[in-house]
Amino acid sequence: MQYRILGDTGVWVSALCMGTMTFGREADRTTSAALYRRCRDAGINFFDCADAYAGGESERILGDLVSGHRDEVILTTKVFAPTGSDRNARGNSRRHILSAAEASLRRLKTDWLDVYFLHGFDLATPLEESLRALEDLVRQGKVLYTGASNFAAWQVMKALGISDKSHLGRFKVIQPMYNLVKRQAEVEILPLAFAEHVGVISYSPLGGGLLTGKYRDASSGTGRINENQTYIKRYGDLRVRQAASDFASFAQQHGFAPAALAVAWVAVNPAITAPIIGARNVEQLDESLGALNIPMNAQLYGEVSHLTVAPPPATDRNEEVRGTPPLWPWP
Ligand SMILES: NC(=O)c1ccc[n+]([C@@H]2O[C@H](COP(=O)([O-])OP(=O)(O)OC[C@H]3O[C@@H](n4cnc5c(N)ncnc54)[C@H](OP(=O)(O)O)[C@@H]3O)[C@@H](O)[C@H]2O)c1
Repeated sequence: MQYRILGDTGVWVSALCMGTMTFGREADRTTSAALYRRCRDAGINFFDCADAYAGGESERILGDLVSGHRDEVILTTKVFAPTGSDRNARGNSRRHILSAAEASLRRLKTDWLDVYFLHGFDLATPLEESLRALEDLVRQGKVLYTGASNFAAWQVMKALGISDKSHLGRFKVIQPMYNLVKRQAEVEILPLAFAEHVGVISYSPLGGGLLTGKYRDASSGTGRINENQTYIKRYGDLRVRQAASDFASFAQQHGFAPAALAVAWVAVNPAITAPIIGARNVEQLDESLGALNIPMNAQLYGEVSHLTVAPPPATDRNEEVRGTPPLWPWP
């Protein structure tokens, strides 16, 4: 396993982060324990969670699994999504952040959260209020580092500006969606993170399973892409389905498991600290772990990248000046 520094923190995290969204949902306690053990055996020390996953059960399971060696793992969790029917049990208000953090600490059975994410941008709460609440948690030692997920680049930049101006801790890591068929992060988010030395742990490297090739026929394949309305909407476009199918064929022609190649393609991006992988069982996990053995080089990276259309740059003039947007500079 390779380890990378998380943003500008000095903390080493494994080059793959394990997502626990399936814990307590598709994966029961026994399967979650097997997934966790397999990750630890592979050298993964980095686990992503959220208070909303499986109604808190994911945090409970993860808390049990890390017990006895809490010092050896880096845990993230998140606040923002509704945790109950109460109108205030959601969002990024000071009130909710402070109580949600306590609840996460209890469920995870730990004294500190390594990374605490705002799970989304809250239009109703002034950003400075959220940042001050996070800063208080940091000063109390309950949170070590803070981050944001699903923020637009301008929202991250606005937060960094407020933090600098008000002498609050900056976001150390962001968590955007990023995979071969969802490349919007390339336009602003990844360049921003690279320039500002903010770590990136990107989610859905397999497009929720689409890039494994199991949905080649529009109606085939069991899993989120055909069963969950959010994912049907997110990945339902026929061109996206076709691109995913072309990618799976390409991977197989080159002797790679599609899942392994999809994860490796994300992981090699110099702006990305670690993709967050996800699985409902150990067989699925093993395919994503196969990314560690892919001999990724500039040629393979370029060929995979050209299977989908890179998003246009943020300003048209840049497109005129530079021509085709370049692929990421090879590290
Ligand atoms: N911040 C956020 O808003 C956010 C959002 C989403 C996820 N996340 C984080 O990122 C993690 C990973 O996200 P993700 O689950 O979307 O990642 P992903 O890698 O794109 O999708 C993983 C899913 O793909 C399917 N799959 C995986 N390997 C497979 C294989 N070899 N063959 C067939 N199907 C396979 C499984 O779902 P099925 O078996 O159901 O098909 C699995 O749960 C989550 O656990 C969570 O920690 C964060």
